[in-house]
Amino acid sequence: MLIRHKPEIRSSEITPEHNYLNRRGFISSAALAGTSLLFATSCSGADNKNSAPTGNHTNLDVNSLEDITRYNNFYEFGLNKEDPEKFSGAFNASPWSVTIDGEAEITGTFNFEDIIGPHSIEERIYRLRCVEAWSMVVPWNGIPLGKLLQRFKPTSKAKFVSFETVYRPEEMPGQRAKVLDFPYREGLTIDEAMHPLTLLATGLYGADLPNQNGAPLRLIVPWKYGFKGIKSIVRISFTETRPYTTWSDAIPTEYGFYANVNPAVDHPRWSQARERRIGSGLFAEKQPTLMFNGYADEVASLYAGLDLTRYF
Ligand code: MTE
Repeated sequence: MLIRHKPEIRSSEITPEHNYLNRRGFISSAALAGTSLLFATSCSGADNKNSAPTGNHTNLDVNSLEDITRYNNFYEFGLNKEDPEKFSGAFNASPWSVTIDGEAEITGTFNFEDIIGPHSIEERIYRLRCVEAWSMVVPWNGIPLGKLLQRFKPTSKAKFVSFETVYRPEEMPGQRAKVLDFPYREGLTIDEAMHPLTLLATGLYGADLPNQNGAPLRLIVPWKYGFKGIKSIVRISFTETRPYTTWSDAIPTEYGFYANVNPAVDHPRWSQARERRIGSGLFAEKQPTLMFNGYADEVASLYAGLDLTRYF
């Protein structure tokens, strides 16, 4: 298959941070006035079913571009938070292709444009809560994962969806150092993958994803700990059985497959009850962590009857 280059985004299409924040202020007022702007629903965390906005999401304070791009977890580029920004410069996210395989009628390897092209890009402001008890709020751009997956016509055997990060040790120093079992892999149940809040992000702050944030394509599941948000995806597989996932299979006592944000279930080595907001200053008080990261109204029903202490 011919792999085309990803089109350059014109600089006029990139929203500078200060304009972005002003625009956001404008849109929030428009939302209050009852318009049906897409942004208004996504900002509130509401889903495509136009459910009523919940109080948790309307006043999220967006982090600066600097916070979002200089404090990262991307072990392919090193273990320190500043490593991904420092060491991802040589990573080449274009051209890019993604293989879709497993339990679906349509499978194959597709170039980035063919995967993303038919969809309109949405803006979603989500809180990212890392398992390490810090959080930030990011204005993502992307497409609901479910919309994309439907196009490949998953069969009735597709019970899970798994994801794999690119393996390029020559461009990723952390892969050469073998600090984890690479390639990084993650997975969701099919219901989680199809949930309207689940996003395949292609950008942030109105521009393409920076390398350190998972260019050109990464997963965002806002009610789960950040490690579920696998970066630089090259493979999406529909599976009948629960897939291998890097962290929960490496250290199952510390990282569960579900990884739902839950202040009541501690990590074995630290509490998950509170979180440090990146950018709020060294002496700022920690904030209480919300059940399902504040998205309980939208997602709690997915886990009805499940013992969340056991299936953490
Ligand atoms: N994806 C890959 N491929 N490698 C990683 O090390 N780290 C995860 C997740 N996705 C990681 C990854 C973790 S632990 C977190 S908290 C988020 O990415 C951080 O995303 P951010 O750097 O954009 O804030």
